[in-house]
Amino acid sequence: MLRTHNCGELRINDVDQEVTLCGWVQKIRDKGGMIWIDLRDRYGITQLAFNESDSDAEVIKIARKAGREFVLQASGKVVERFSKNDKIPTGAIEIKVEGLKILNAAKVPPFLIEDETDGGDDLRMKYRYLDLRRNPVRKNLELRHKMMRETRNYLDSQSFIEVETPVLIKSTPEGARDFVVPSRMNTGEFYALPQSPQTFKQLLMVSGMDRYFQIVKCFRDEDLRADRQPEFTQIDCEMSFVTQEDILEMFEGLVRYLFNNVKGIDLADFPHMTYADAMRYYGSDKPDTRFEMKFTELNELAQNKGFKVFDDAELVVGICAKGAGNYTRKQLDALTNFVKKPQIGAKGLVYVKCNEDGSFKSSVDKFFGQEDLKAWADKMGGEAGDLLLVLSGETNHTRKALCELRLEMGTQLGLRDPNTFSCLWVVDFPLLEWDEDTKRYHAMHHPFTSPKRSDLEWLDSEPGAVRANAYDMVINGVEVGGGSIRIHDKETQEMMFKHLGFSEEEAKAQFGFLMDAFEYGAPPHGGVAFGFDRLCALFGGSDSIRDYIAFPKNNSGRDVMIDAPAPISQDQLDELQVELTRPYEIN
Ligand code: AMO
Repeated sequence: MLRTHNCGELRINDVDQEVTLCGWVQKIRDKGGMIWIDLRDRYGITQLAFNESDSDAEVIKIARKAGREFVLQASGKVVERFSKNDKIPTGAIEIKVEGLKILNAAKVPPFLIEDETDGGDDLRMKYRYLDLRRNPVRKNLELRHKMMRETRNYLDSQSFIEVETPVLIKSTPEGARDFVVPSRMNTGEFYALPQSPQTFKQLLMVSGMDRYFQIVKCFRDEDLRADRQPEFTQIDCEMSFVTQEDILEMFEGLVRYLFNNVKGIDLADFPHMTYADAMRYYGSDKPDTRFEMKFTELNELAQNKGFKVFDDAELVVGICAKGAGNYTRKQLDALTNFVKKPQIGAKGLVYVKCNEDGSFKSSVDKFFGQEDLKAWADKMGGEAGDLLLVLSGETNHTRKALCELRLEMGTQLGLRDPNTFSCLWVVDFPLLEWDEDTKRYHAMHHPFTSPKRSDLEWLDSEPGAVRANAYDMVINGVEVGGGSIRIHDKETQEMMFKHLGFSEEEAKAQFGFLMDAFEYGAPPHGGVAFGFDRLCALFGGSDSIRDYIAFPKNNSGRDVMIDAPAPISQDQLDELQVELTRPYEIN
């Protein structure tokens, strides 16, 4: 090897050893008679020292040639430092350099390779390989590696086997658009990249694999956000001969194991909350339960008192913000503007301040007396010093808006600490979801999810009321995973496709292979998939999954470093028999 040690491991006990280090120049200080170079690698920083009076003239010459990010090989003796640096683990020693080689020169980097950098997002994405030299970014990838290792350890210990499934497949309906790949050998036909290995893992259960997992890339052509990438990674799992409870327990076990082994945190049991309760009390199927501030419905107390806005509303619902009774006029106006933003879309906000003297001051004093307001406060758990915030309107819309307001208040009151973790399972999701655009029902999870037997009688009369054996794991308001108990017989699967508007031919053409397989002894089975990038971001205390992906795409789905996607040559297009409706403009 070109080195005897790395740049993070030498200590005071190593004094007098002859060593050779390799690394990048972090910093050079040239004080005339003395030169110091901070040499950096993945493991740390070690100081190299050169003394003009007793170092080889050639070595000094080379040291003076080096610049930031040059790659050096330095040999010499470990000596105790005169002025020690207790901020770094190698700070008690330095290397008295006797031999120095420039292994490679470097251009001046476009931004500072330091924990705090001056590079903007775009620049750092373009030079991602340089950004990855920075400690915080590298640490995120180290965390990801640990998470992957511990995931494999846990699942292996539970008899899961990792099986790779193909990447060139036929479209799986997970709700997003597919990325497609033209086939040269089958002209005019396309593969799709998997949105998830869903059908394959179910086929593996038919094969008797019993417990399958895969840490696997999935591809979805959808609008991107901080927690969405077009290619992302799942911990994809499936089990045979299990009930929903077995699955929840097994994968609560996985997350508990990860918290324990990666972060040293012992988690409490995960509560189970029905989808209906999540919507009713938090206005979201992924409630942030780090803080209470549950919704209280006020229809009975607040309607028919002459306030038309409430009287005309389907739902009047509020939250109690503890200790926010001292909010100023300006702060309350800001909250009103917040809920009126087009993304949130509330028409207005009603507030009630619970004064220290037991009286109330509200924005609707004209319509509601002290008795009324006291009744609201009692129902909402409001005490002196609290602030009640109330919205009204159409049920789903109002719940969504209040959910946003609740999260905003949680943030403003410091209740959403990224180092506190609150995990739960949301269960009993609806089987179907009405889609206004296509005017038909879609599978809320995916079409392979089994309905609750007890609800099947409503499938024709009230499809939206049928619940599924489907569940999501939610941590701090983030949907980190989801899954279901599957349909494992042909008849139910056919019936499901029929309700989703597939003709018999369409269902056979798209999923005949799965329904055929169900006729050869398919075991009862179910599973789950975790968004691995989201789990990593959560463990790292960040909202953005990009920071935990080595080479992520930007918000337009581009890799700005390699400049992809990109046009392909006319020859390639011809070979694939792909004709562009709008040919490339040749510059
Ligand atoms: P689902 O579609 O819910 O289920 O996906 C599982 C988990 O994957 C994560 N996820 C994403 N992460 C980053 N970027 C994206 N674009 C993205 N999309 C989804 C989420 C989500 O909870 N086959 C089923 C699982 C099953 O039924 O077993 C599936 O893929 O954290």
